[in-house]
Amino acid sequence: MKLNIQRFDSSKTPKIEIVEFKVKENETILSSLIDIKATQDKSITFRSGCKSGVCGSCTIRVNGVEKLACKTFVKENDLIQALKNTSIIKDLVVDLSYEENLLKNTKSYLHLYSKDQITQKDEKAIDIQSNCILCQSCYSSCPVYEVNKDFLGPYALTRALRYINDKKEKNLFNIIDSIQTNAIWDCTLCGNCTIVCPQFIDPKTDIMNLRMKSIQSGYEDKSLQMYQNDFNDGFDTGFNPSGGFDPNGF
Ligand code: SF4
Ligand code: SF4
Ligand code: FES
Repeated sequence: MKLNIQRFDSSKTPKIEIVEFKVKENETILSSLIDIKATQDKSITFRSGCKSGVCGSCTIRVNGVEKLACKTFVKENDLIQALKNTSIIKDLVVDLSYEENLLKNTKSYLHLYSKDQITQKDEKAIDIQSNCILCQSCYSSCPVYEVNKDFLGPYALTRALRYINDKKEKNLFNIIDSIQTNAIWDCTLCGNCTIVCPQFIDPKTDIMNLRMKSIQSGYEDKSLQMYQNDFNDGFDTGFNPSGGFDPNGF
């Protein structure tokens, strides 16, 4: 069976090449990469940790779609590439430091601790978003992040909702205020992040929830403002509401 790997080494002349390797059937992509490194080319570089879908470190693109290498089985002629929208260090290993800073920018952590009793229902309310494994699949698939590196992006916004819904947090203002610029109003709601998330988190719906909570907290609905601007632009280009009909012309 053949597997194609896109190779790149940032320390050498920038050159991307696709190299073909022979792999066994019925293996995960991570097992195949480990086997290639052991028997065919020890310079092949990739990242992995738990080998069981919980650490998020083995994320790659398979035929253009973000996947966990340890949970995806090889198919004939698969093309394996590093994640998009971030810089490649070597082969399938990307630099994750920039996105980790975006997480800090959402101020998604406890600011004012509440001593209120926490029930199972309260824990359930933040359960899904707490399952994020920071695999970065969502950033790789996001068209807004592709053109705007200041966009806070899916997992940072999902994390913001997690802390806004956390009953232990008494001061929501800091978090809600931090997601008004380059954040919830810039998302196109395309849903790519939701489709690729291996943890079945739904960042698109989380962003819609954050918009609703922002409006309820008194922030302006910037999506409406955007539509109004588009609408007015049409009239500014010389549209005549009478359609040019002149009743006195007869
Ligand atoms: S729904 Fe929003 S955050 Fe998710 S991929 Fe699309 S633009 Fe990015
Ligand atoms: S939200 Fe999903 S896709 Fe994004 S980093 Fe977390 S686990 Fe990965
Ligand atoms: S190695 Fe941990 S998620 Fe794949």
